[in-house]
Amino acid sequence: MPAWDVALEATMPARSKLFFVDNAGNSFPAEQARLAELELAVFAETLQRLGITVARPAPLDHRRPFSTPNWKSPSGLYSMMPRDLLLVVGDTIIEAPMAWRARYFEIDAYRHLLFSYFQRGARWISAPRPQLRAEWYDDGFDHEEPHTTGRYVTGEFEPTFDAADFVRCGRDIFAQRSHVTNRSGIDWVTRHLGSDYTVHTLDIADRAPMHIDATFMPLAPGKILVNPSRAVSLPAALQAWDVRLAPPPAVPGDHTLYFSSPWISMNVLMLDQQRVVVEAGERPLIEMLEGWDFEVLPLPFRNVMRFGGCFHCVTADVRRRGTLESYL
Ligand code: ALA
Repeated sequence: MPAWDVALEATMPARSKLFFVDNAGNSFPAEQARLAELELAVFAETLQRLGITVARPAPLDHRRPFSTPNWKSPSGLYSMMPRDLLLVVGDTIIEAPMAWRARYFEIDAYRHLLFSYFQRGARWISAPRPQLRAEWYDDGFDHEEPHTTGRYVTGEFEPTFDAADFVRCGRDIFAQRSHVTNRSGIDWVTRHLGSDYTVHTLDIADRAPMHIDATFMPLAPGKILVNPSRAVSLPAALQAWDVRLAPPPAVPGDHTLYFSSPWISMNVLMLDQQRVVVEAGERPLIEMLEGWDFEVLPLPFRNVMRFGGCFHCVTADVRRRGTLESYL
């Protein structure tokens, strides 16, 4: 478990604070981790049975403390959410310059895969490594409306971003300014990708923004799922799409979610334009998607959800069939 600091404070459910403060540097409850690992294994096997190549991160001991010339961290976090770390765009794989110190070396669990993709032709790059100096975080960040006041916990001293603040839709990429992704981070991605891709920054009203994929989910050409509890301003071209509001999450209120809101229910994974993996307990969402002509694959994942992500977060699809279209 990471040390509690202002970057966590800005992005995490307030109810988690005491637990994190008391347990910094300790492991998460072993039984919860074990159950999450089982769910992940079933998910991986299911994908493999469907003909999808699944690679897993290498074991990494996140309990080791580490430091840079500017700060120390009592531990890392976990190897569970490659979506946060890796932005895959065409044949380019970008390691994200993350704003949480505890995640500074999280990429190491994936390095063997990155090298292997590189050997097979990937254009592998790491964004400029941030310094994450204490004075570059804003203790006075806005707890309610950072999108209105611009008071995010990260300033503009250097680019930072989590890959999960970007979501791809062919040659269009949608991004949000969040507490971990700053404007310079979005600019860096935009400039790095060049003219083959268009990065659109969406204006989203989120009290504690971190990761776009429980807020705005393009599911297939012409179909977008959005979070009804966060106002999302869509570019004119997307307003013509079939944009639907996700139903309220079904995860019980007393189910501990350490890192996220219950809207992590929306964090579904599209296998192609028809098939979608959804948490098995999310009946309202499953019914809604079936009524929208999707083929739903329900899988139990509530133990994984505790740790801040669902099927989209725990994957980073490096290769998909098809051609890259421009939709807007
Ligand atoms: N930060 C996102 C949420 O809590 C994932 O909904």
